Amino acid sequence: MTYLDIPGWFDFEDAYDLLYDQVSDGGVVVEIGTYLGKSTAYLAMRIRDGRKVIHFFTVDHFQQGESSYPQTLANLAGADVLSWVTVLQMESAAAAALFKDSGVDAVWIDGCHDYEAVKRDIELWLPKISRLIGGHDYTDRWPGVKSAVDQIFPNARKGGISWWLHDLNLKVCKGNTA
Ligand SMILES: C[S@@+](CC[C@H](N)C(=O)[O-])C[C@H]1O[C@@H](n2cnc3c(N)ncnc32)[C@H](O)[C@@H]1O
Repeated sequence: MTYLDIPGWFDFEDAYDLLYDQVSDGGVVVEIGTYLGKSTAYLAMRIRDGRKVIHFFTVDHFQQGESSYPQTLANLAGADVLSWVTVLQMESAAAAALFKDSGVDAVWIDGCHDYEAVKRDIELWLPKISRLIGGHDYTDRWPGVKSAVDQIFPNARKGGISWWLHDLNLKVCKGNTA
């Protein structure tokens, strides 16, 4: 079994490859929105098979749709990656409170896609990160994601239906919001 066998909406392998490359040995990565672990399993597999130690956390309250904490654990175990990720069963805001400012290298936002929720996730996690912030579903199908990203990060890079900022772009952005 691999990540391909897990149900979900993961089509951002390229973005997760970029994220993996951006994070240094010993770094911390947080994913908001696990669902059943499809994207989680892909990044955990990259970490398992790579040369860097990366502390990877995925966050979901598992209260939406078919999302499921026990099924996610089973899926990650089936894909042989359970040891390479910590699943935090909680609200995004509660998870953000566990990390110190600038203590996270990269955050990927794929939780609730409403405008207010995306805006809140960006505002919650932006102070925590040092290298990359990005997310999924920047598409007309999810106008709330587009509006929040366009408002806060007009210069975000786009690829497929993902968006992200990293390195210099991010410093400029943090400077603008200070
Ligand atoms: C689009 S799905 C994630 C898809 C997943 N990344 C994949 O590869 O298939 C969004 C997930 O975010 C979770 N979610 C929504 N709002 C949340 C919140 N405020 N805190 C934590 N999780 C949340 C939902 O339970 C759902 O499982």
